[in-house]
Amino acid sequence: MPWSPVWPFAARQRPDLRRRTSPAARARRSAPCHAGAMDAAFDFSFMPRFETKRAVLRAIRPAEDLAALFDLFADERVARHTDTGPFAEVAEAVEVMDWIAQIFRERRGMRWAIALRGDDDRLIGTCGFNYWDRERRQAEIGYDLAHRHWGRGLMTEALRPMLRFGFEEMDLHRIEAGVTVGNEASARVLEKLGFREEGLLRRGGYWKGAYHDLRGFGLLRRDREV
Ligand SMILES: CC(C)(COP(=O)(O)OP(=O)(O)OC[C@H]1O[C@@H](n2cnc3c(N)ncnc32)[C@H](O)[C@@H]1OP(=O)(O)O)[C@@H](O)C(=O)NCCC(=O)NCCS
Repeated sequence: MPWSPVWPFAARQRPDLRRRTSPAARARRSAPCHAGAMDAAFDFSFMPRFETKRAVLRAIRPAEDLAALFDLFADERVARHTDTGPFAEVAEAVEVMDWIAQIFRERRGMRWAIALRGDDDRLIGTCGFNYWDRERRQAEIGYDLAHRHWGRGLMTEALRPMLRFGFEEMDLHRIEAGVTVGNEASARVLEKLGFREEGLLRRGGYWKGAYHDLRGFGLLRRDREV
C-alpha cells in the first residue's frame, strides 16, 4: 500500500488542543503585529483531535478507513457537487487517501475523518483545509458527509472546532470556500457558520470534464471578533 509508510500522524493526536484558546494563540493575538506569526503557527508535528456534542474529528486511518471513504464517495448524492467521485473503483479512494497524506506531509493542508461520538468510530464524512497559504494567512475548507446523516446539523457542528483551530492555531485571518451553484445545503452550512457570500466565481472550478460556477464564501477572523 503506497500511502501507509508515509502516513505521519495517526498515533500522534493531542487532546490538549481541545482547549478553546492556547497560550500561543493568546500571545500571537496580543503581539503588536503579525511579523513572525507564520513561524509560530501550527507546525504539522501531530494531527489534532476535536470532539463536539455528537461528533469526533480524528486523524484518517488510511487502511482502516478506506472502505468507508469508498462508500462515502460511491454515493452519487455526495459526489454530485464536488470534484470527487462517484467512485466505481477502490483505487479512486486510495488516490484520495494519498492526496490527504501528501498535503499533510507537504504541510499545505489537512483532512479529518468525522465519526459519531460513542459509535464504532467509523468514518461517516471528512473535512479539512484543502490548502493553506501561510504567507497570506488564508486557507480553503472542504467537507462531505454520508447521505444518511444529512439534515441534522451535524456538519455545521463538526466544522466549528476546525474553524476555531484555523483562526487560533493556524493563525489564519481568512477562511474561504467555493460552493457549486445548486449546492444549497453547503451554502447554508457556511451561512450558519457566519461566512459571507462574496460573489460568483464564473467557471471558477474545473472537474469531471466541465467548468463550474462557484459561489465564493469567506469568513474573516475579524468577523468573529465583532
Ligand atoms: C453539504 C453537507 C456537508 C451538509 O451537511 P449537513 O450535516 O446535512 O448540514 P447541516 O444539517 O448542518 O445544514 C444543512 C442546511 O442546509 C439546508 N438545506 C438542505 N438542503 C437544502 C436545499 N435543497 N435548499 C435549501 N436549504 C437546504 C438544511 O435545511 C440545513 O439548514 P437549516 O439548519 O437552516 O435547516 C452535505 O449535504 C454533503 O455532504 N453534501 C455532499 C458533499 C458536499 O456538497 N460538500 C460540500 C462541497 S462545497
